Amino acid sequence: MRFDVTTLLACALAGAFLTGCDGRPPEPPASGPADPVEALNRLDPRRPVPLLPAMAWHQKQNMQQHLVAVEAITHALAHEDWDGVTAAARTIGTTPDMQRTCRRMGAGAEGFTDLALEFHQRADAVAEAAATRDAGAVLRATSVMLRTCTACHATYRQDVVDAATWGARTGMTPPGH
Ligand code: HEC
Repeated sequence: MRFDVTTLLACALAGAFLTGCDGRPPEPPASGPADPVEALNRLDPRRPVPLLPAMAWHQKQNMQQHLVAVEAITHALAHEDWDGVTAAARTIGTTPDMQRTCRRMGAGAEGFTDLALEFHQRADAVAEAAATRDAGAVLRATSVMLRTCTACHATYRQDVVDAATWGARTGMTPPGH
């Protein structure tokens, strides 16, 4: 390309660092991937939990409900409403349905399902503590339960994948296949 005065002036005006003088968009910086999701995954050192999009959304909804349950537990505890504590803790307690969901969610991430099942057992313990009507015991059980929330969040992150990838990484048959 021939550089004449007009080209140089145009480059200066456009800011040669924003668009190359040949009009092509600039190359992404060599330090990171162009795909922003890939860039995020490189920053986030936690273990990926492969999930189909619908599973990832389901998990997020479950998680939001978990936090609502914690809110309800602490609210009821503050009012010494022991039945309220029990009812709130039971919404995140162990059920066959919950166990099935945890096994499926954690199928591609070692240790995830065990931690998830442990979490639900600790929620059961909060409900049991409420039966003693001892605020200190309920608080201690709640704190032990919350430690599983934070341990899991520190260790795992969602990794949203397509059906073929999910099947390969979990050894399970994707839904509808
Ligand atoms: C066995 C693992 C595990 C346990 C236990 C767990 N979580 Fe999560 N939670 C996750 C994962 C994985 C994510 C997604 C994190 C990511 O990809 O950044 C998440 C995300 C969340 C989010 C964000 C939801 C959204 O809409 O994006 C909230 C809120 C949350 N968890 C609350 C809780 C609370 C409260 C508890 C305990 C009472 C809890 N979680 C227990 C694994 C867990």
